[in-house]
Amino acid sequence: MTELAIIGGTGLTRLKGLEIERREVMHTPYGEPSGAITYGNLCGKEVVFLPRHGYGHTIPPHMVNYRANLWCLKNKGISKVISICAVGSIREDIVPGTLIIPDQIIDYTWSRHHTLFEKDLTSVTHIDFTEPYCQEMRAALISAARDADVRVIESGTYGASQGPRLESAAEINRMERDGCHIVGMTGMPETALARELDLCYAVCAVSANWAAGRGTEPITMEMIDRNIATGLEQVRTILEQLIASGC
Ligand code: HPA
Repeated sequence: MTELAIIGGTGLTRLKGLEIERREVMHTPYGEPSGAITYGNLCGKEVVFLPRHGYGHTIPPHMVNYRANLWCLKNKGISKVISICAVGSIREDIVPGTLIIPDQIIDYTWSRHHTLFEKDLTSVTHIDFTEPYCQEMRAALISAARDADVRVIESGTYGASQGPRLESAAEINRMERDGCHIVGMTGMPETALARELDLCYAVCAVSANWAAGRGTEPITMEMIDRNIATGLEQVRTILEQLIASGC
């Protein structure tokens, strides 16, 4: 049975090379997920694919039903999740187009459904979030990148912002003081919900732009799309290597 799922972010509503076998429309106790679950074959391995923002890229970050998305994956027997997402670069060596495998996260989002542990509890549950990402999956992504000769930054702190607007320069300055290296809008609550569901979850982030106040040019969608396209080619290479190595 398929155990690996890929959640696609901005620019990844379809996974190139995925031979689609079937799609399944699911309903959950938390509402509708971002779209039907796609089952397919990537480099000879069965994988499940779900585009976070919907197949038409119409669901903004603060409206994604993170609970429904992850619940569906868990319900289908998925145990490993690779999340692909776009971020802005705060640290100066993370040039747009670069890939990063974050190892920490700070949550600046608000008013999102951030837990599954809310109703019908037999006891109050607090997950351990000291290491927010699955270390085995991070190590597998890093070693696949090394084997495929793709440069990735092997650690970093993800600042999860609310969106959908980009940040002010002062907000980015604050995030930098807090220790954030990249900023994105979809990291939370997805990362915490994955832990609540005991999923082995890691992120491969693509830097799409310099964060506010860090670059010399205004941030445009054209710039974001261009850098994401470059980064996603490398993400595909890593995924192929990862699957070839038996993940
Ligand atoms: N900020 C937040 N999220 C993002 C950015 C950014 O600059 N770029 C891509 N996703």
